[in-house]
Amino acid sequence: MTTKTFDLSGMRIFITGAAGGIGSATAAICTAQGAEVILADVVGIEQTKAKNAKAAAIYQLDTSDRAAVEKLAREIGPIDALVDTAAICPFDDWMAPGWDEALDRVLRVNIKGPINLTRAFLPGMMERKKGRVVLCGSIAGHMGGVRSGPHYAFTKGGLHSFMRWLSRKAAEHNVLVNAVAPGPVDTGMTSGQGYDPSGFPLRRMAGPEEIASCIAYLCSPSASYATGAIFDINGGTVFH
Ligand SMILES: NC(=O)c1ccc[n+]([C@@H]2O[C@H](COP(=O)([O-])OP(=O)(O)OC[C@H]3O[C@@H](n4cnc5c(N)ncnc54)[C@H](O)[C@@H]3O)[C@@H](O)[C@H]2O)c1
Repeated sequence: MTTKTFDLSGMRIFITGAAGGIGSATAAICTAQGAEVILADVVGIEQTKAKNAKAAAIYQLDTSDRAAVEKLAREIGPIDALVDTAAICPFDDWMAPGWDEALDRVLRVNIKGPINLTRAFLPGMMERKKGRVVLCGSIAGHMGGVRSGPHYAFTKGGLHSFMRWLSRKAAEHNVLVNAVAPGPVDTGMTSGQGYDPSGFPLRRMAGPEEIASCIAYLCSPSASYATGAIFDINGGTVFH
């Protein structure tokens, strides 16, 4: 029997949304487990660097821009794992005039982003017969969201389906594709948005590192038979 470990030594892991809560926590855990992490976020490089002192490389990238994603993928070269945590979640009114612009933005980042990234990186992984992809879903994709809006819930439900489609395409090439579906996590995305954890089973929100540890597991040798799965890390807020 092969020994499975959580060791990520020798792995190059590309993480998007790396200036954010879950992205930077994932970078920290993957680095601690021995991986070389290459990071990107739409914000300036200095802002991402401030959260990620140990990164091997940091880029400014808008994941919704296919040409920019393709260009960066060529620059970065082969990677062992892609972790996409980039997303937006505007808290707004879908009946308000001008909301359609917010809808377009959410679709571009939360749907086109993962599609752009996987179109850029998956073919190389499939050719090398080795790779991991971890995408970020949400309990919003299961039950409509705790406080998030319809655009966000729509994209996260779509992300779950897309991940399953991708996992079926990639499995025969030994590329494993999974998603995490967090409940409310204490990050910039939720801060100040009126989440009340007193009604949650654990009476608190998740810390970003509690989602990141599952992502790191999914990149590790221990997760070698997991693919097409959505890992619900939601503190018992939702069962399905
Ligand atoms: N925080 C939560 O409660 C929660 C719950 C369920 C799922 N999630 C998901 O987890 C992931 C990480 O969220 P988080 O809580 O760390 O949020 P966050 O806001 O802290 O981080 C998201 C990061 O994505 C970046 N980003 C936004 N648009 C981008 C783009 N076009 N290109 C590149 N980067 C971009 C932001 O600059 C930010 O740094 C997201 O996919 C989110 O939908 C979060």
